[in-house]
Amino acid sequence: MQTGITAAPVTYSIKGEQYVAVLAGWGGIWALAPGILSEVAGPVRNVSRLLVYRLGGSAQLPPESPVTRPPLDPPATTGTPEQIAGGGRQYGRFCGGCHGDAAYAGTVLPDLRRSALMADGKAWASVVHDGALRDQGMVGFAKVLSPEQIESIRQYVIKRANDDKALGDK
Ligand code: HEC
Repeated sequence: MQTGITAAPVTYSIKGEQYVAVLAGWGGIWALAPGILSEVAGPVRNVSRLLVYRLGGSAQLPPESPVTRPPLDPPATTGTPEQIAGGGRQYGRFCGGCHGDAAYAGTVLPDLRRSALMADGKAWASVVHDGALRDQGMVGFAKVLSPEQIESIRQYVIKRANDDKALGDK
């Protein structure tokens, strides 16, 4: 399948030939919230498609492309300890369910420790506060987080990225 499966398969036959069809695609909570655990279990790409197998069929899927990620290349940590601690709390409450516990993402959504937006507070706010990527499924959080809290989350993610880089992550 070259990806995860969360849907149930179906089977049917047409003119005596039996088929098994499954909607393949990686998602669900395992690919999101516990990012580090799904990574350790083996990173799985999301490739959304309907796959149909005929019993006795011999066709092969096209070759699989590898999981690629931007490098871990954060700016220096500049947040105060209070800012980072507060940002960590807000991150856990509002962001970690999708972008991964402790800012360590699975393969489906952006790993914020690797996001280029982290280096620029205004660009970060345009997405996290204003909702610049809302059409892609990333809503703005202006109704529930203040600009200061959103900046604290950025400082927390910068700190997390630097911590992991110091541990040897690339
Ligand atoms: C319901 C799921 C969900 C939650 C919760 C969520 N995000 Fe996102 N976020 C997304 C999706 C989906 C994208 C990818 C959008 C795209 O494809 O461009 C994204 C993208 C981003 C990006 C752009 C990353 C890049 O480099 O392209 C940033 C920054 C971001 N989110 C920050 C946050 C922060 C901070 C929070 C918590 C306040 C948060 N997100 C909460 C779903 C979520």
